Amino acid sequence: MDRRAFLKLGGAGAIAAGTGYAWGQSAARQLPLIPMTDLTAGIEGRIALNLQSAQHDFGTGASSATFGINNSYLGPVLRVKQGQVLPFDVMNSIGDVTTIHWHGLHIPGDVDGGPHQEIEDGATWSPDVPIVQGASMNWFHSHMHGKTAQQTYTGLAGVLLIEDEGSLAADLPKTYGVDDFTLVLQDKMFDASGRMSYSLTGDTIEEGFQGDTLVVNGAIAPVAQDVPTGLVRLRLLNACNARFLELSMATGPITVIASDGGFLSSPVEVESIVMSPGERYEILVDMAAVESNALTVNLNGGDVGFFASLFGGNQSTVALHLNRTAQAGFTGAMPNRLAVLEPPKRSEATVTRSFQLDMDLGADLTALALAWDNVCGDAGAMAINGQPMKMDRIDEKVTKGTTEIWRITADEQQHPFHVHGCSFRILQQEGGAAPAYAQGWKDMVHVGEGWSEILVRFDHAAPADAPFMYHCHILEHEDCGMMGQFTVT
Ligand code: C2O
Ligand code: CU
Ligand code: CU
Repeated sequence: MDRRAFLKLGGAGAIAAGTGYAWGQSAARQLPLIPMTDLTAGIEGRIALNLQSAQHDFGTGASSATFGINNSYLGPVLRVKQGQVLPFDVMNSIGDVTTIHWHGLHIPGDVDGGPHQEIEDGATWSPDVPIVQGASMNWFHSHMHGKTAQQTYTGLAGVLLIEDEGSLAADLPKTYGVDDFTLVLQDKMFDASGRMSYSLTGDTIEEGFQGDTLVVNGAIAPVAQDVPTGLVRLRLLNACNARFLELSMATGPITVIASDGGFLSSPVEVESIVMSPGERYEILVDMAAVESNALTVNLNGGDVGFFASLFGGNQSTVALHLNRTAQAGFTGAMPNRLAVLEPPKRSEATVTRSFQLDMDLGADLTALALAWDNVCGDAGAMAINGQPMKMDRIDEKVTKGTTEIWRITADEQQHPFHVHGCSFRILQQEGGAAPAYAQGWKDMVHVGEGWSEILVRFDHAAPADAPFMYHCHILEHEDCGMMGQFTVT
């Protein structure tokens, strides 16, 4: 293993004491509840998503220039039901071309919202998106090739919760904003006047852009007041550009009930979980025994955290304070069984493909950082199997309905690998078993030294003019070419 890569990363990614965010230490901010659009009872007309330029105060006292989707920052939480078709009107008025990708959805390539489905400024994209999969937490974000990192960071992202008959009837906390919270976790950088900033150097392209301040639903270290006693459900999305986050509770364990693609077979109780960019987990926290609690985050999670910790880079911060009232919320017990999940069967695979993530094609990253605005994805500084992403090259051709094993590896730092149009099961992660909470349905897998292996069936068509993507979800790596395209026919 190339330890220097980790050390370098840990050192630079660590937060120096006394720097960074220094505003608004006084008044605690109430946790912003992202406006939720509940469509589970039925959909009338088209669903308007207005991508706009806006101003947002993260809690620094200053207005930051942001993008929002129907909001000043981020999009709504859309709550929908299995079996529906979502008639979207995605209106772009951000002043730049973009796309909106439905991350996690099992849908055909022509409505996937990948880099081929550009929406010009002033234009409207109107895909009808069928929801065939069951209960799961998904999200949507910019996938504009070369600009995904900047546009997503600026706010073009939202959450899409799918419910099904089972999840609507399940004995679980499900009152939005009362005992069921959707939390979008992101790291930000703020300048001296408290405005959100984004800038790249050669180093930050290599590591991915890392902020020193964690925000939850667009607010710094907020407080959830009046959390009821009993079990509380937190639906977590790591929407950071590049940081792996290690999450734990100040008091008590985390009980994981669902991963990217839906419920686990039964709850998994752990001290902490590591979430890569792009991952979702749903957890239950027991607020019966404590008057207050906190979701704490080590900003340097994953492998990086281990090495960073050797250099004092293990940076824990409170993401969210939870203050309890005496009122009862969800009164049920911790569930025993959640879903029926067959163990993944390797023998179902008829094809095996291998992917090597490559960070260094010898390009000058510093020059690239300076030219970033004009790069638009053709820089080709990073690659998969030696090939930087090219919009007009199909890298893999998959036969619809087949099950495959994809083996992915990387030689330096850890990467979060994502595949469009499917959910998969992790057979192996970085040369070993995945943690129990990552053994259900996933669309993200951690990749590093040692093979990661996924078992995946491709059921949704993607033609050559609307192919699916596979890529590193460190958004700067993706923009730099660590992405490939495949068809399903
Ligand atoms: Cu969340 Cu191809 O992306
Ligand atoms: Cu995706
Ligand atoms: Cu990467």
